[in-house]
Amino acid sequence: MTAKIRNEVETLRQTLRHHEHLYYVLDRPEITDAEYDALLGKLRDLEQAYPDLVTPGSPTQRVGGAPREGFVKAPHSSPMLSLDNALDEGELREFLRRVDEGLGGEPVRYVAELKLDGLSLAVHYRGGRFAQAVTRGDGAVGEEVTENARTIRSLPLAVQECPPAFEVRGEVIMNRLAFEQLNAQRDEQELPRFANPRNAAAGSLRVLDPAITASRRLDYYTYMLLADGGPVHESHWESLNALAGMGFKVNPKRRLCSSAGELLEFCAEWEAQREQLPYEIDGVVVKVDSIEHQRRLGWTAKAPRWAIAYKYAARQAVTVVEDIIVNVGRTGALTPTAVLRPVPLGGVTVSRATLHNEDEIERLGVQIGDQVLVERSGDVIPKVVRVHEPGPERRPFRMPAHCPVCGGHVVREEGEAVSRCVNTNCPARLKESILHFAARGVMNIDGMGIALVDQLVDRGLVKSVADIYGLKLETLAGLERMGEKSAENVLRNIENSRQNSLPRVLGGLGIRMVGERTAVLLAEAFGSLDAIATADVETLQRAEEVGPKVGANIHEFFREPRNQELLERLRQAGLKFDHPRKVKAAGPLDGLTLVLTGTLPTLSREEAKARIEAAGGKVSGSVSKKTSYVVAGAEAGSKLDKAQALGVAVIGEERLLEMLDQRGSPSTAASPN
Ligand code: IVH
Repeated sequence: MTAKIRNEVETLRQTLRHHEHLYYVLDRPEITDAEYDALLGKLRDLEQAYPDLVTPGSPTQRVGGAPREGFVKAPHSSPMLSLDNALDEGELREFLRRVDEGLGGEPVRYVAELKLDGLSLAVHYRGGRFAQAVTRGDGAVGEEVTENARTIRSLPLAVQECPPAFEVRGEVIMNRLAFEQLNAQRDEQELPRFANPRNAAAGSLRVLDPAITASRRLDYYTYMLLADGGPVHESHWESLNALAGMGFKVNPKRRLCSSAGELLEFCAEWEAQREQLPYEIDGVVVKVDSIEHQRRLGWTAKAPRWAIAYKYAARQAVTVVEDIIVNVGRTGALTPTAVLRPVPLGGVTVSRATLHNEDEIERLGVQIGDQVLVERSGDVIPKVVRVHEPGPERRPFRMPAHCPVCGGHVVREEGEAVSRCVNTNCPARLKESILHFAARGVMNIDGMGIALVDQLVDRGLVKSVADIYGLKLETLAGLERMGEKSAENVLRNIENSRQNSLPRVLGGLGIRMVGERTAVLLAEAFGSLDAIATADVETLQRAEEVGPKVGANIHEFFREPRNQELLERLRQAGLKFDHPRKVKAAGPLDGLTLVLTGTLPTLSREEAKARIEAAGGKVSGSVSKKTSYVVAGAEAGSKLDKAQALGVAVIGEERLLEMLDQRGSPSTAASPN
């Protein structure tokens, strides 16, 4: 290997790190995502050609290792304690008085920082390299989540000019946007929602499969630097600045203060603006700045005496559930909603809270007439936290047997949490379908809101989503609250939406479990809507992240004659039905479908699956003519018989490992015959 290649690899890494820092830490990208991907691809190619050059600190090493069986415990270098709380101005002043007393009246400076609502994490670096990440746990011993934390982009993998071994502590958070998108995706996949961004962050970090953490867009803000279990600098302020200089993300919303007045001003400023922040905060942390002062003040068993958490009032309130009504969504799903006695909460009056489904109502044990605790957190829609006091004349909610909008049958399928109206012509479903189609982030038809859609459907002007492409100016301008000008605007937006890419069109169809991301992956894998619409369930699963359930939903959707007709009409409207295909980098198992059966000698089922998928292969649960190989271990069952009956090649673990090792030469491994 030449020095030239070594140099090229190192230069690429430095460039990539520089751009990662600009993007993830400073929020100030200088190149496009595509340019970044191209640089990363180049580095990946070089590392693949020269595996000896791969280092754990390389930007290609973000995606952590294979899933594990459980977490390993790890002790902390010094206890990760919590903070005492000050719940109002009086308690904050009391804290300042205690500090003053403890330091014999010397002048004291304080650092005020936002208190991010996430979970704390200690991250160790050795020799300037990201080495280990440990959750807080009980404060003395935490759980090692190194591979998961490695995927958090705001945590540098390599740091220059730093102590030989050091540790940072800080908060892992999920910002509001990522949280809302994650919950929307979970709704589509019919998985339970996360209650708030903190739970979502914790749930995303403490998973056994790092690939899940990687997909969750977590962020990390650092607030402490330690070496040998103690501080490195003379003051906390200095230490924060040093961390920022080392490439860590440090919240710029911090202030050095020297009086109670200044501290209270900082607290009030951010309390007023907290809704505008991209992440959730639950207060302000006030810390004595000088490390020498901190040492003199010391610690109690639970918390430092030199810091306090000034907590903002929770945005929770108690009110009465006056009724529980149901809304009908675009898939016909009936969502129960609590009608609340109006109550002020975090600056708005709240009169509705979602209850999601019958299981959620059961979990909460809530009935009509109960007093409940409601909360506004990351979600804009308030939610019921728990029953505060059962009402004297409470009555249970019953899901109606008939749709409240069209009177159609309501069915709750086995194993599902959701009840649905089965009438595909239900006006409520049509309205929701149009709203979904036109929504921001889908087809982006601004102005196509509920007021307009209600009129269009109620007057019979629109009977299918495709009808919006035939709307005329006179029709629109004649509707209530629709001047000529707004009608023209809506029409122009409808017109422009014809230029939207296939993933948007596909996402707009409202197929269950097919959200933005899945739509992109499908379009990239199949290249056209027709290819997707005519594929069978098994073929659909060739697209990344499409499993049997999603595949079945897509297949079922396109088999429905009404939807086929919709497709034809959207085609005639001139919408985009094609998309550039993305050819994945060739892995040794590219294009192959494998079925695992029995117990393999060394690999667990999960490991085998992860490695096959990483090599470009797919793992299917059942054997068919399209199966490339059956990988059989001890006590293989009926799948082995089926493979033999169908003439599908059967291999053992050893051969699988050989195939996996065939770097970049797919042709030698690709033919099953
Ligand atoms: S300092 C001994 N600073 O709040 C110092 N904590 O209630 C310990 N937190 O466990 C923490 N933002 O998870 C500190 N700027 C900040 C923080 C912060 C959020 C969390 C942290 C801690 C908890 C204490």
